Formats: sequence, C-alpha cells, structure tokens
Amino acid sequence: MSKTKPVHEIRHYFSPKDPFELFTKWYNEAEKTEVILNAETMVLATATKDGKPSVRYMLMKSYNKEGFTFYTNYNSRKGQEIIVIEGQIVKNDAKVSEDYFHSRPKSNQLTALISNQGEVIEDIEDLVKKKDDLRQEYLDEHAVIPKPDHWGGYVVKPDSYEFFCGHQDRLNERIKFRRPFADEIPDEKLVHTGEDGWIYQYLSP
Ligand SMILES: Cc1cc2nc3c(=O)[nH]c(=O)nc-3n(C[C@H](O)[C@H](O)[C@H](O)COP(=O)(O)O)c2cc1C
Repeated sequence: MSKTKPVHEIRHYFSPKDPFELFTKWYNEAEKTEVILNAETMVLATATKDGKPSVRYMLMKSYNKEGFTFYTNYNSRKGQEIIVIEGQIVKNDAKVSEDYFHSRPKSNQLTALISNQGEVIEDIEDLVKKKDDLRQEYLDEHAVIPKPDHWGGYVVKPDSYEFFCGHQDRLNERIKFRRPFADEIPDEKLVHTGEDGWIYQYLSP
C-alpha cells in the first residue's frame, strides 16, 4: 500500500511557494525536533575545474534572502574550488566575518590562527603545542586575537532550491524552485508561478 501522503497534505508541506519562506518554516521545525541534534549542519559540495567533486559538512551560521553563510579557511580546498563557481558563492563582508570571528570562544579563534586547514601534518600534538604557545600571547582577557586573512565566511547565493519529502514507499516528493528563463511563461502544468519571482516544478523521485 502506498504511504504517499494525500495531495492536500503535500500541498501543506510545500507551502508557501516562496522557497526562502518554505526553507525558514522547515528549518524552524528541524531546530525544534529533538532527534535532529544540529539542524545547522549542511553538506557542501564543490568541484574542481576539471569536474572532480568533493563534499564535506559545514555549519550554517546565518541565512537570509541573500544567501546562506558558513565560515571556513579561505585557503582550504573548498576555498579554492568555490571561487570558480560563477556568481553563486561569494565571500561575505570582511566586517561581518570579523565580528563573527570575535564572537567565537577565544580557544576557537586561536585554532583558526594555527591551523592551515587541509594541510598534511605529522602529529596533532604539534598544533596543540603551537596553540599553547600562542595562548600565552593572549592571556590578558582584553587581548584581541586578530582574525587571520585566510579565515571568513562565504555566502551561498541560491539560484535554485529543492525540497525533498521522503516517504516509506520511496514515492518521495520533490519540489524545485528556480528563477524563470528569459521570456519563460509558466504553463501552470509542468511549470508553476511561485512567490517573490520564483517558479516551481514538481520532480519525479
Ligand atoms: C558537523 C560538522 C560541521 C563542520 N563545520 C565546519 C565549518 O563550519 N567550517 C569548516 O571550515 N569546517 C567544518 N567542518 C569540517 C569540514 O567538514 C572539513 O573537514 C574541513 O572544512 C576541510 O574541508 P576541505 O579540505 O574540503 O576544504 C565540519 C565538520 C563536521 C563533521
């Protein structure tokens, strides 16, 4: 027997038809759900110019209609790759990164200073030692740890969103939002008019 939800329930899941508002609704629900420990964990996939993909977890630290922000080491592998994605991912404002950096626990700030993310190391103890040495320099509780240039945020500027609603019988439901192509008029059968300039389509699972 199909476990797919009746159409009126699906409409309820996939409403409103502004993907940012829909994201906000689903995200707020995920944050309140006890079995989801870190709702802000996201998976970031990038590819090299010759198409070699890589994925890794990131923490989404803020979001708004302009995009989704995470913080990282700009010199790391993903930093190199993201920059080639045209117009979709941008470094966030240096001042925003600066403020966020100083809002983090001092110990985390020090780690950003001593770790060249992705670099091959002999032993983690070397970094522990490096960090201990550096800690001595910033013992004063008012000492400001300078944000390294290679550390900051990226904003993923979405040009499409997909929402996936899983069902036990695998007849999962998917809705994808994108911006219309030039002169595209939704036929309201396969392509529908959404809100805030978005159009949407249902996808086969
Ligand atoms: C749950 C989780 C959250 C993570 N969040 C971040 C993050 O916000 N920023 C970051 O630079 N690395 C984060 N990491 C580590 C990355 O997944 C990754 O190992 C690291 O950024 C190096 O990636 P790269 O070598 O592909 O550049 C996280 C790992 C896990 C398991």
